[in-house]
Formats: sequence, structure tokens, C-alpha cells
Amino acid sequence: MKKIICIHGGPRKNGNTRAVTALAMEAARNQKAEVVEIDATALEAKVPGCLACHKCQKSEEFMCSLGDPVAQAVATLPAYDVIVLSTPLYWWSYSAQLKIFVDRMYSLGKFGENGNYRFSLANKKLALIATAGGPIESNLELLEQQWRAPAEMMGCSFASCLFPNVAAAPGKLVDDPAVAEKARQFGKMLAG
Ligand SMILES: Cc1cc2nc3c(=O)[nH]c(=O)nc-3n(C[C@H](O)[C@H](O)[C@H](O)COP(=O)(O)O)c2cc1C
Repeated sequence: MKKIICIHGGPRKNGNTRAVTALAMEAARNQKAEVVEIDATALEAKVPGCLACHKCQKSEEFMCSLGDPVAQAVATLPAYDVIVLSTPLYWWSYSAQLKIFVDRMYSLGKFGENGNYRFSLANKKLALIATAGGPIESNLELLEQQWRAPAEMMGCSFASCLFPNVAAAPGKLVDDPAVAEKARQFGKMLAG
């Protein structure tokens, strides 16, 4: 049974990103995956982002020493097989709320002085679900690369499910059967 954690970065609770992600996670649950969802837009952060205090590098624990709800949520990630980011494309990237979360993931690695590193997420799968008003080319693909690159560095596999050129009203994107099917197939694949 796969353990999946989905981190929501879309601020619109009724938005299209959450709607497609809900279908994907429902499909994963139908395949008997255990799915936990956290809302990065609602997590309390003592400070936004990472302070580069490097306290996480001086301890054996994979834990951000800020100890706030963001740190606590990030520290749970190694317990899962699949880590899904769900976000609308904002300025060719993920949302700022998600960036706060992702920067704290520095605490999940140990970076040695001679260029060595090890990660508590090695051998997991990183996945991305994203929507955008514009195309994939020179747009969504830039976001995809921002999650694929850490996956490669951490020794993780990677998968993405991208929804470009979204013109539907908030939450209505899933009324398109092809979109709904794409989201469900992705969720099913993550659970497999
Ligand atoms: C602050 C902001 C920045 C955005 N930046 C981009 C962008 O760089 N490229 C793009 O194609 N769409 C961009 N969009 C459009 C959203 O990605 C798109 O409408 C998305 O589907 C919204 O998802 P939601 O319904 O879950 O909120 C932006 C929207 C906002 C509000």
C-alpha cells in the first residue's frame, strides 16, 4: 500500500488546481493508497522561508529547527512514498506559500563540506499537479523543472500532471471529461 502526501499550494480552495488534485487523490485512495493532504497556504510560519541558520545541518535529525507548523509538516515527509505538490502556476513557478514550504525542505538533506550530500527522501517519488492559464512551453515546463531537478538530486523518481491553457471558471475545469480522466489516471498511477 502506497503512502502519499499531497501538499496544496493553491490559495483558491474552490480553484481548478484543487479540483483536479481532488480527483487524483480520490483515484489514489480507490487504489487503496493512504493519502494525507496538507494545506501549505494555511500553515503558520514563524518566518517565511528558510533563514539559512544551518542548525538543521548540525544535528542528525532531519528537522527544521524553527519548530513551527511548517517545520513540523516538512519533517513528516520521509514517512511517505510519494510527495505531491499541487499548485497553480504563479509567475512561472509555484505559489509563494508553497515556496515557503519547499525551502524548509533543506532540513531533509545533510550537505557535507566536500560536496557530499544525503537526503531522507532518497528513493521516493516526487510528483507535481499544476494548472496554468498559459501553455506548457516556456511556462509550465519551467515549474516542472523546478520539482524535477530536486527529485534527480535527491535520488527520487518524478512524475507530473500538467493542465495548461485553463480558461474554465474556478472549479469547473473538472467538468471536462478528458481533464477528469487525466487527473484520475495520474492518481491511480501514483498509487501503483
Ligand atoms: C499571481 C498569479 C500569477 C500567475 N502566473 C501565471 C503564469 O506565470 N503563467 C500562466 O500561464 N498562468 C499564470 N497565472 C494563472 C494561473 O496559473 C491559472 O489561472 C491557474 O489555473 C489558477 O488555478 P486555481 O484555479 O487553482 O487558482 C497566474 C495567476 C495568478 C493569480
